[in-house]
Amino acid sequence: MENLKRDIEKILFNHEDIVHATKRVAEQIMEDYKNSEQPPVLLCTLKGALPFMGELIKHIDIHIVIDFIDVASYHGGTESTGSIILRKDVTMDLEDRDVIIVEDIVDTGRTLKHLITYLKERKVKSIACASLVDKPEARLVDVQADYVGVESPNEFLVGFGLDYDEKYRNLPYIGVLKPEVYS
Ligand code: IMP
Ligand code: MG
Repeated sequence: MENLKRDIEKILFNHEDIVHATKRVAEQIMEDYKNSEQPPVLLCTLKGALPFMGELIKHIDIHIVIDFIDVASYHGGTESTGSIILRKDVTMDLEDRDVIIVEDIVDTGRTLKHLITYLKERKVKSIACASLVDKPEARLVDVQADYVGVESPNEFLVGFGLDYDEKYRNLPYIGVLKPEVYS
């Protein structure tokens, strides 16, 4: 992993930090859902949350089921529309299920807010969110993750699912790009 590392200015969370934080989130989820009637649905938001999802489920020692959704929040219109662009919908029937949205990052919060609105229409029993990264200073709408891996300063991050121009998702750590990479 020395090749792509040349583009990285600094590493904020190394692989060990990420695994440690993910295990902690897994333990919290187990504690909160151990008495659930039905296994909770871990709903991975593509594509960014894929590595976190992969790590997270390895540490959850109760029954869960998984599904995937791919949404983009619509930034063009007014904030109040609450619209999302649905690129790939869930495949399971979510009615009356406990859903845990698995996110890569909560930044402005728009995507998460829209996703929660969308899932409520599916008559889910409960909704929670586990996010690998939280960037509280970037928040523009009032929403937060119930389970947070790591809290980050307001910088643009890449790695462990997070991309710049679809690249760098495969880094095993989270870091900040060198400025010359953008120009
Ligand atoms: P939101 O602003 O909370 O709606 O986040 C929208 C999406 O922007 C996230 O799911 C990420 O895909 C992307 N995003 C936000 N911050 C970063 C970042 O620092 N690096 C890479 N992608 C980001
Ligand atoms: Mg994303």
